[in-house]
Amino acid sequence: MLISLDILEKVIRDAGSLAMTYFKNLKNLEVSKKSPRDFVTEADVAVEAFLKEHLTAEYPLFGFWGEESGQSSNQSSRWIVDPIDGTHSFAKGQYFWAISVALEIDHEIKVGVVYAPALNDYYVAKKGYGAWKNGLSISVSSETQLADAMVSTGFACVRSFSTENNLLRFCRIAEKTTGQRRFGSAALDLCLVADGQVDAFWEQELNLYDVAAGALIASEAGATVTDFKGNSGLFPKQVLATNGKILDQILPLM
Ligand code: IPD
Ligand code: CA
Ligand code: CA
Repeated sequence: MLISLDILEKVIRDAGSLAMTYFKNLKNLEVSKKSPRDFVTEADVAVEAFLKEHLTAEYPLFGFWGEESGQSSNQSSRWIVDPIDGTHSFAKGQYFWAISVALEIDHEIKVGVVYAPALNDYYVAKKGYGAWKNGLSISVSSETQLADAMVSTGFACVRSFSTENNLLRFCRIAEKTTGQRRFGSAALDLCLVADGQVDAFWEQELNLYDVAAGALIASEAGATVTDFKGNSGLFPKQVLATNGKILDQILPLM
């Protein structure tokens, strides 16, 4: 089935407008916890319901997997949706959060969109065709030295109780790099690698809906996407995306 990137953009931008109505009225936002340190808001639920309704209406043959509502019956070809990646930032009134939508067909991600409404940045990639930000083609940075690199990572709330919590790895890498950032949205972190704003990003124990779209955007922009041992592919439990030129230097520190 052919996908219209224009129709997809309209649906996702409309979902972004819905998210912004909540974002502009945070004082009245209902926030609850799925588990300790794992927030969900009424905006997450509403944005996902909107996307499920409209994507299913436009493309009835595809199934749906959303973070908040789970999986529909058809999962061989499906939309994979994180309605708000960066919920904690969203609920605090920070701008760094995004809607993440990927189309997976027979285990291959074909299309990825990451839309950050508060930043007004719309990233899209189509497998084999490239990646774009706000309509312009994007590519990874040209940095060749890890020592001069800007890296980013994340520390998932649900892992903070675990000993494998990324803190030691972060310290190892921070000592060998110039800039380190923690932005709070894995989907957008991957887009920053794609856009050359960051030279490498890693995180562990993510879910496919956090990274499916962003990883396609990164790889279509020229990034390497591997696990922490350097095996190519998207492994949500160990995601390392780099500009390719510093991969060999960062791998021994993972
Ligand atoms: C989270 C964000 C965050 C990452 C967490 C994710 P959510 O997603 O991507 O950057 O550190 O691991 O769970 O909960 O805001 O959708
Ligand atoms: Ca997420
Ligand atoms: Ca989410």
